[in-house]
Amino acid sequence: MIGRLNHVAIAVPDLAAASAIYRDTLGARVSAPLALPEHGVTVVFVELPNTKIELLEPLGPGSPVAKFMESNASGGMHHICYEVDDILAARDRLKAQGARVLGDGEPRIGAHGKPVLFLHPKDFCGTLVEIEQV
Ligand code: CO
Repeated sequence: MIGRLNHVAIAVPDLAAASAIYRDTLGARVSAPLALPEHGVTVVFVELPNTKIELLEPLGPGSPVAKFMESNASGGMHHICYEVDDILAARDRLKAQGARVLGDGEPRIGAHGKPVLFLHPKDFCGTLVEIEQV
């Protein structure tokens, strides 16, 4: 059901410093920061030949990333995103298998302008999983 790896998201305490590491030390192409208040993050996209890395910095008091940062002060891998062809079919299949879909279970528009859902990390090897319809 899942297709390509769309991106790996890394939560960071300082987006400018993290961008400099990826741009200057690792020599990657890094986008300008994009604030996504509805998701509680500011994001930078790192374009790699075969996938993307998203650097996430908490935005606002209700940020879903804020709690993660409390236990990962220097940053850490936050989630992994797999592509699916049909997000509603994927959701229904996952729920039928007993997986927990976060939120109200309705897809939201993610950072790339495509519908996304998040799946409970305890059901997926301790990793928060995002699925994105491409
Ligand atoms: Co993501």
